[in-house]
Amino acid sequence: MDNIWSSQAFRGELPAGFQGNLSWQSPSNIALIKYWGKKGKQLPQNPSVSFTLSNCRTVTSVAYERSNGFHLDFRFDGKENPEFAVKIEKFLLDNLASFPFLTQLDLHMDSHNTFPHSSGIASSAASMSALVMCLLDLERQVSGEKDMDLRKASCFSRLASGSACRSVFPVMALWGKSSVMPESSDEYAVSLEEKIHPLFKTYHDSILIVSDSAKAVSSRAGHALMEGNPYAEARYQQAKENTKTLFAALGLGDLDAFIRITESEAMQLHALMMCSNPSYVLLKPDTLNLIDEIRHFRKETKIPVCFTLDAGPNVHLLYPDKDAEKVDAFIRNVLETYCVGGQWIADQVGQGPQKLA
Ligand code: PMV
Repeated sequence: MDNIWSSQAFRGELPAGFQGNLSWQSPSNIALIKYWGKKGKQLPQNPSVSFTLSNCRTVTSVAYERSNGFHLDFRFDGKENPEFAVKIEKFLLDNLASFPFLTQLDLHMDSHNTFPHSSGIASSAASMSALVMCLLDLERQVSGEKDMDLRKASCFSRLASGSACRSVFPVMALWGKSSVMPESSDEYAVSLEEKIHPLFKTYHDSILIVSDSAKAVSSRAGHALMEGNPYAEARYQQAKENTKTLFAALGLGDLDAFIRITESEAMQLHALMMCSNPSYVLLKPDTLNLIDEIRHFRKETKIPVCFTLDAGPNVHLLYPDKDAEKVDAFIRNVLETYCVGGQWIADQVGQGPQKLA
């Protein structure tokens, strides 16, 4: 058995003429506690916690029809994209034991992102979770099942692209076994929506684009370098502790603790890259300028803005909705000058994947 869901796979024969269309959109997410280092089959070395976003999304549509074998064609933004097509085909073929009905279908997929390509924003969380929502919906069509198990959607999203597993849930998600939630798992994420103070459901993430070029070292290579990192074990322990502290802060609405842990996690992620062998730096001078400006603004105004970083130079500015007007002015008056082409993306905590058709 491949995983806990393969034993329930639909193995029936599809009727001749079986065909249809479906479409899903799914968001990106931004981690507060970072997943950095993996083991086994795309399993995390430590728990991670993220906000689910709303404006940075992938929309994927699938037209399917009965055939005598598996066939896929894939278009991104209306154009053939062999690189993505190979990745998606590999994922589907690797998981045929769980979705054997695919061997009776021709699939025509079309995908696009709602955010600019050249923003340097990683899209695999959005695109892979959108793909998996389509796949599980397709399984519902062939099997006649009504419900969709979001843990299963999360598990297959994880297999497609690690952190994508957190995008399946609205507002906030926890991925990885942690003592803070008995139902947490390394195999899939769980929702934190019911566990957090309402303030966090209003959070904004303004993504300040410092560089819009592809990063020099991929996340895949970065995860692999954790294997020889002398600080790896200490990092995994620290992430477990930070998960507990953040979980408590999220429940209480404790913004001081939230800011302390969130910024420390961002710094640690990049410190780990600098301590890898070979070492590397993804931060740019303007990343550091933005961090200085944000910390200075917080000190002067007492407005609880803070930052996090993904595996790249762009800065995610996090703040509650009640402060949005003042922070918006701060971005336009001060921060925009550090952004390439003045570019930033206004995003917000969101509702998770949605079915469009
Ligand atoms: O899901 P991956 O393999 O692209 O790795 C994501 C790593 C970080 O974005 C840096 C952290 C995270 O938890 O999302």
